[in-house]
Amino acid sequence: MCGIVGYIGDRGATPLLLDGLKRLEYRGYDSAGVAVLNGNGVETRKAAGKISRLEAALNASPVHGNLGIAHTRWATHGAPNECNAHPHVDCKGNIAVVHNGIIENSNALKTHLESLGHKFVSETDTEVIAHLIEEAFDGNLEDAVIEALWQIEGTYGIAVVSSEDSDKIVAARKGSPLLVGLGDGEYFVASDASAILAHTREVVYLDDGDLAVLTRDGYRVIDLRAKTLERSVHKIEWDLHQIERGGFDHFMLKEIFEQPETIENCMRGRLLDEEGTAKLGGLNMTDEELLKFDNVVITACGTSWHSALIGEHMMEELTRIPVEVEYASEFRYRNPIVNDRTLCIVISQSGETADTLAAMREARNRGARTYGVVNVVGSTIPRESQGGIYVHAGPEIGVASTKAFTSQVVALSLLTLKIGRLKDVSVVRGKEIIEALRALPGQVKQILDRAGEIEALAEEFKRAQNFLYLGRGYNFPTALEGALKLKEISYIHAEGYPAAEMKHGPIALIDEMMPVVFIAPHDSVFDKVVSNIQEVKARKGHVIAITSREEPALAGKLDYEFRIPETIDMLTPVLACIPLQLLAYYIAVKRGSNVDQPRNLAKSVTVE
Ligand code: M6R
Repeated sequence: MCGIVGYIGDRGATPLLLDGLKRLEYRGYDSAGVAVLNGNGVETRKAAGKISRLEAALNASPVHGNLGIAHTRWATHGAPNECNAHPHVDCKGNIAVVHNGIIENSNALKTHLESLGHKFVSETDTEVIAHLIEEAFDGNLEDAVIEALWQIEGTYGIAVVSSEDSDKIVAARKGSPLLVGLGDGEYFVASDASAILAHTREVVYLDDGDLAVLTRDGYRVIDLRAKTLERSVHKIEWDLHQIERGGFDHFMLKEIFEQPETIENCMRGRLLDEEGTAKLGGLNMTDEELLKFDNVVITACGTSWHSALIGEHMMEELTRIPVEVEYASEFRYRNPIVNDRTLCIVISQSGETADTLAAMREARNRGARTYGVVNVVGSTIPRESQGGIYVHAGPEIGVASTKAFTSQVVALSLLTLKIGRLKDVSVVRGKEIIEALRALPGQVKQILDRAGEIEALAEEFKRAQNFLYLGRGYNFPTALEGALKLKEISYIHAEGYPAAEMKHGPIALIDEMMPVVFIAPHDSVFDKVVSNIQEVKARKGHVIAITSREEPALAGKLDYEFRIPETIDMLTPVLACIPLQLLAYYIAVKRGSNVDQPRNLAKSVTVE
């Protein structure tokens, strides 16, 4: 949600900043801007809309310099226009600030600053930071930033430059991710490693309360009392090609097609075939500790919440521990029953989702043991949780989550297997689960090889105005996920429902205009789903069914059938979601939507 990149070194800053912004564009794309120090002062260029518009503005009116900061925005305060785009400057135009997050007391600060004579030009909360720094400035930028930050309530990841202390970038973090990139005689600041991966793999992740001061000669991390802090250097393990489209039309399609590999990566080195169990390095718990929990709470948002529902189902089935799934945004504002005998599993692709992070902190404050299921290595949730598993899906750039979802389900199945085997699950059953897991990458590949069939189906339904997705048991969450994928990228209204719940209301919507997608693999609830299909067909709905076997009872009842390979019940969502991801993708493309950057969305929701 918004992206920051900054550079100080000997090279021209503008092309580096622009390149970084393009790589961050998936985080927010309402408007963008740069501020570069060129020896005469701070030069800013801004544009509403995509980075390409900023690029055009810079081509028309170039800025040169070896030091600068840049931002791509997902609007929270004020419309996404040029005036509200970052960087924001102080009254004299000497100080420029880019900011991710929300300043909660911005109104009060603005009133106070106006009473001191400061003039505001934008509707943003960020602008107060520039004026606060101006007010505090006495020749040293980091001192002024520190003084400003003491007055701010809310969340921030910021980068600041000033023409009056002109050989440095000051960055600071509270609640919004930020890292420092260490190059050869050059330094970067970024909200996300992908912005700087073309230049360095060595990064220092900032913690909340940290400030970084970057000069051409080095960097320092200090706290809000200017005390020097030690922060370790991490190496980014992924490659540039993983954040490029690699011949695919969209990141989303590339990421869908990566799933045989990403699922394999999630399991790699974690399956113990002989013992029929899983080995989880980041658990940080003994078997005895793992058996001590009375209950499990899983908290997440969006697609990660859907994988949580699947996790709930498999955990209760195999471990018999009561599991509750909570929207992170709800969990944090009620009085949840969580204590030191609760395992709190926190699922997040980005590891930075504000609500999920806050829910995890809340659970931990109440004594729960926190366990992160996260994709982005080094992000805040894994750094703050007490244990966890990286799902190893690699960078996910498409705003619609695809490969992270399947890897989350696989990761949850590994944890379930581990706990289940410590409890009542037999070695034979454990081995069956491992066999099914090992078959998944090949089965996903078989489905992907038939993507053309789904593309043809998309052509038929691309003008639909509504869709219903129905499933039961393990595939009720798959129905929710299929509907979410479709609505977020094609803007078609879609609902996911438990198939049997349909008759308690949504059945009223069914007529010859309503496509209904049934997720109906041959699992323990298949016969029940067959009845639900008949109910829809009797009302002239168009039935699209994801099945796994020929079923005489369905003869003549399906308008369209796509068969997926068979697997054990708990893994059916991993296979069933693939045609649904493809369906959403192809419909969206055929409707002319911007699949990787759907309207109003951003990849990582780091505001409440
Ligand atoms: O990074 P997270 O997994 O915490 O993100 C949670 C949701 O914001 C995310 O899944 C969102 O719903 C996606 N756009 C779904 O495709």
